[in-house]
Amino acid sequence: MQFIACLVLLFGIVNARKLPSYIKVCHRDDPKVGECVVKNVEAMMPKFSEGIPEMSIPSLNPLMIPAASLNSGGNFKADFTNLKVYGADKFKVKSIDLNLKDKLHLALDLHFDTMRIVTDYKIDGNILVLKLNGHGVMDANLTDISAHASTDAKQYEKNGKTHLGFINSDVNGLVIKKAHFQLDNIFGDNEQLNVQTNQVLNDSAEELIKELAPVITSVTRDIVFGIAEKTLQRYTFDELFPQ
Ligand SMILES: *[C@@H]1O[C@H](CO)[C@@H](O)[C@H](O)[C@H]1NC(C)=O
Ligand SMILES: *[C@@H]1O[C@H](CO)[C@@H](O)[C@H](O)[C@H]1NC(C)=O
Repeated sequence: MQFIACLVLLFGIVNARKLPSYIKVCHRDDPKVGECVVKNVEAMMPKFSEGIPEMSIPSLNPLMIPAASLNSGGNFKADFTNLKVYGADKFKVKSIDLNLKDKLHLALDLHFDTMRIVTDYKIDGNILVLKLNGHGVMDANLTDISAHASTDAKQYEKNGKTHLGFINSDVNGLVIKKAHFQLDNIFGDNEQLNVQTNQVLNDSAEELIKELAPVITSVTRDIVFGIAEKTLQRYTFDELFPQ
């Protein structure tokens, strides 16, 4: 038992030390450390779809998110479960500001050409001019998505080694140029009402985007910080960003 625990521990440590060959080491004092990280993300990108097991990164196409919910505080509530996000594996880092010298801060501008979210939904309340109460499958195609992500980081010790962890992670400034939503079964068997409702949803896509922005923001946060956090947990600060 102890022997196995030892082996696991040893293997874990040995494993943790090897950066894949397509990752270039970025130096924390390099004034262009941000650009260096972007190059690594670009090198990893073709692999995001399948996932990168050697870096503990799951498949991003689809990316599976167990649950997300929306509570406007007022008269509208929505729960989404089994979210499948397609297209999250393809994004562009439009700008990066990474400081690893004193304040450990990262800010990113991101762009996704398209993202598709297919999810079970349960919705109750007033949205737009509609009074909705139902559940089914929602399909959403989003086009031209921009977001700003930022985070601070702090150092912590794991197995006697220094790692970086995120604090105060935030995604904001979400802009979606175009969206098409389809909510199946919103009025159960009443097919005519379902069609009419989806027509209204489509005609008011802009307002619907605003209503759903918190969920899409949270999905984006899972994509960005989910990937990065796995890497930070796996490798030490010195391995990723030597001095
Ligand atoms: C989203 O796009 C996919 C693939 O292009 C398409 O099959 C699906 O019907 C679209 N869904 C909506 C709600 O527009
Ligand atoms: C949805 O609305 C757009 C315009 O905003 C329109 O071009 C498109 O045909 C509509 N689609 C459906 C399925 O109603």
